[in-house]
Amino acid sequence: MQARAEALRAEGQTIAFVPTMGYLHQGHLSLMREGRRRCDVLVVSIFVNPTQFGPGEDLDTYPRDLAGDSRRCREVGADIVFTPARDSLYTPEFQTYVSLQALPNHLCGLSRPVFFRGVATVVTKLFNIVRPHVAVFGMKDYQQLIIIRRMAKDLNFNIDVVGAPIVREPDGLAMSSRNAYLKPEERPAALTLYRSLQQAQRMVQDGERDAARLIAAARGLIASHPASLIDYVRICDPHSLEDVTSVAQSALMALAVKVGAARLIDNALLTPI
Ligand code: PAJ
Repeated sequence: MQARAEALRAEGQTIAFVPTMGYLHQGHLSLMREGRRRCDVLVVSIFVNPTQFGPGEDLDTYPRDLAGDSRRCREVGADIVFTPARDSLYTPEFQTYVSLQALPNHLCGLSRPVFFRGVATVVTKLFNIVRPHVAVFGMKDYQQLIIIRRMAKDLNFNIDVVGAPIVREPDGLAMSSRNAYLKPEERPAALTLYRSLQQAQRMVQDGERDAARLIAAARGLIASHPASLIDYVRICDPHSLEDVTSVAQSALMALAVKVGAARLIDNALLTPI
């Protein structure tokens, strides 16, 4: 892959890159289309990265469908699907990690302590192998997107890190490979994430600015389904991820909720007008 990337660069071709863990859905495909539009060559990686899973998380059960994924990549016009083996990215001697100081100490980083170190490390490795000009990440994983952006600047990667909008199911549920874990009877509980974001947006439109009241209303809606277990509901600064007490300026509302076996996340910008 690295030799291929160097050869493409030597020919003057530009490379767009979409890293994924597979079990691809329309959210992933929208990132690929964005990459396709921006560069001559589109590379998609599929790799379930062990270093971003904590003990007791779903590394072994993470859904996989390499044949279907390859077909979907072809249909969207990917030129290269890169599927490294676990041992080729992490040899037994492996001992170098990339970690950020402040951005992981919020939201998902609090309940998943090794997650962003694993993500930053594998994305660094993939960037060095794929040598992209542009890399596309989804806003669904908002904290991941801004961590990768920060890292690319801090480590002088010279890669344009592009954010792509959240793609949803017709009923509003944010698409996720982990939605495969949801039982049909858990769907109403899963839908409360998006509903509570919409409710907060409506409240802000109607003049509510108090973060505590917006959060309480969201928690109330989510908790009305006994199947859901809230990890966090936060309203924070979209750049630093520090909590804000008032939505005087645009703020990010971010949620993580466990519904059955699925840990779901969603977010939206709250913009006062
Ligand atoms: P994965 O969860 O497979 O997601 C790959 C990319 O797809 C991420 O950038 C994610 O934000 C984006 N994505 C997922 N669901 C989306 C949706 N509904 N709408 C828009 N974009 C969506 O994120 C990872 O893998 C891994 O952490 C990875 C970056 C590959 C590192 O291992």
